[in-house]
Amino acid sequence: MSTLVEQLEALGREATAALAEAKTTPETEAWYSEYLGRKGKMTGLLRGLGQLPAEERPAVGKAANEIKVALEAVLQERQAALAQAEMEAALAAEGIDVTMPGRRPQMGKLHPTNQTLREACTILTHMGFQIFDSAEVETDELNFELLNFPPDHPARDMQDTFFTTKKDVILRTHTSPGQIHAMRQYAPEPIRVILPGKVYRKEDVTARSEMMFYQIEGLAVGRNITFSDLKGTLLNFANQMYGDGRKSRFRKSYFPFTEPSVEVDVDCILCGGKGCRVCKYSGWLEILGAGMVHPIVLKNGGYDPTVYSGFAFGMGIERQAMLKRGVDDIRYFYSNDVRFLERL
Ligand code: DAH
Repeated sequence: MSTLVEQLEALGREATAALAEAKTTPETEAWYSEYLGRKGKMTGLLRGLGQLPAEERPAVGKAANEIKVALEAVLQERQAALAQAEMEAALAAEGIDVTMPGRRPQMGKLHPTNQTLREACTILTHMGFQIFDSAEVETDELNFELLNFPPDHPARDMQDTFFTTKKDVILRTHTSPGQIHAMRQYAPEPIRVILPGKVYRKEDVTARSEMMFYQIEGLAVGRNITFSDLKGTLLNFANQMYGDGRKSRFRKSYFPFTEPSVEVDVDCILCGGKGCRVCKYSGWLEILGAGMVHPIVLKNGGYDPTVYSGFAFGMGIERQAMLKRGVDDIRYFYSNDVRFLERL
């Protein structure tokens, strides 16, 4: 009977021959399990090692190891050759045409809200307003009290405001509290700022209202600021935002923090003022609220209302986007429908 070393050598020759027959990478992997794997033939033979006298074992172990190392080297070579051949075959089969134009990557773009927000900010900053940042989390005091909201004002209702678990800390329902922050930072210097940002209202989501939307607040305070300044600024804004030919009108209104207060309309973009569903057959679309800063608010901001005056305005950005781009449902803005996002 042949010795274990002879058997190992025979196995080595058999394995080498078998490997030469392997035509694909998976076949070489199967070959590995068959000969060198944990349950392979080599392991099988070496099981006989235990029966040998102790002094013969090292020589057998050494022989087995050499054969194994040699086989692994051959395997590596074989696999490299096969990989190369397989790649060449794939390239030939796919017939890659290197002159073909590449695929155009899909480019993202600004969200319609952001486009509109930037458009409005650009118009206003060109008029000399500076952007002032303020937080989305406010206190009841800043959001309401200092803006002269009477304690029982309906806007303070649980319906409209998102409260937090912390007493008196709320999500701002409008950007107007930023007026107080800006005034307190700069008083008694004259200021001209806009405050763009998100606001939150606990409202049912419908075609016309969302729980979160963007506003831009504007504020100018100085020694000689008049209603004419407000009017000029807003008419100029409306013309740039909605087109020179648009008609605008000022309508009296009420806000606790301005006196007098107005709302500004432009003639309906869709029907040109003739009356349609979008303008509710009035021919007009409301674009913003505004007014002369209430003396109490000026005082709360640190300005002496007998010396200083100011105007303020506030607008909803999605609303501007809807009017400008003819979108009839505010819910499109945050439902991430790519068809909508691509169109605008
Ligand atoms: N804060 C008001 C709102 O959210 C909008 C507004 C109206 C802001 C008149 C103003 C203003 O600054 O003067 O409905």
